[in-house]
Amino acid sequence: MSTDCRPRGLFITFEGIDGAGKSTHLATLAELLRSQGREVQVTREPGGTALAEKLRACLLHDPMDALTEVLLVFAARRDHLLRVIEPALAAGRVVLCDRFTDATFAYQGHGRGFDRDVLQTLERWVQEQADGQLRQPDLTLWFDVSPEQAAQRLSGVRMPDRFEAEPQAFFERVRAGYAARAAAAPTRIVRLDATQPVESVWTQVLAICRQRGIVA
Ligand code: TYD
Repeated sequence: MSTDCRPRGLFITFEGIDGAGKSTHLATLAELLRSQGREVQVTREPGGTALAEKLRACLLHDPMDALTEVLLVFAARRDHLLRVIEPALAAGRVVLCDRFTDATFAYQGHGRGFDRDVLQTLERWVQEQADGQLRQPDLTLWFDVSPEQAAQRLSGVRMPDRFEAEPQAFFERVRAGYAARAAAAPTRIVRLDATQPVESVWTQVLAICRQRGIVA
């Protein structure tokens, strides 16, 4: 009989349009989990490995067509899954990932209007596990905010990247994309009202994590 008493790995992703404020809460949750004795892997997409970070730099700054963008996003994801996410989950860690495939459906699928059937095919190629199941997050926190408010938060902070420079209408479509994803996977994806002040959004994060037995 197995005597392995490591905690089960947990995969939690953070989503929302640019300027939704998700990264702050990712860092706070990582700190809380560590203080409660969990091993935590903090990571991000696109990125998380040396190769995927190089692809991230291209994605954020180099002009390219939508198909190239999609292929680079999934190439980065494949490397990240194999080298970081799967090993961390197998070791019983909590993986906190700033964006994952919901971002691809929201940004490339809804934002750019890229064929979502093709995205689904690539998702299967990249995320299929040995048992045939798709690797998906155990929980996705969707920080929902209006594009107007997100733009206000981002304005003047730094030079906008290729996505941040998109017009408000793009972010309206991305937001609608997240809403559609959440409607299709209501247990996995939880919407947070990210228009509230930081402390109040954190209270929502905490409540969900307690409800799911993720934090004490
Ligand atoms: P983001 O996560 O917002 O990082 P930062 O807070 O450092 O700006 O930036 C990543 C960008 O990449 C974001 O604009 C969304 C985009 N993106 C996609 O378009 N598709 C994807 O699949 C992923 C993971 C990200």
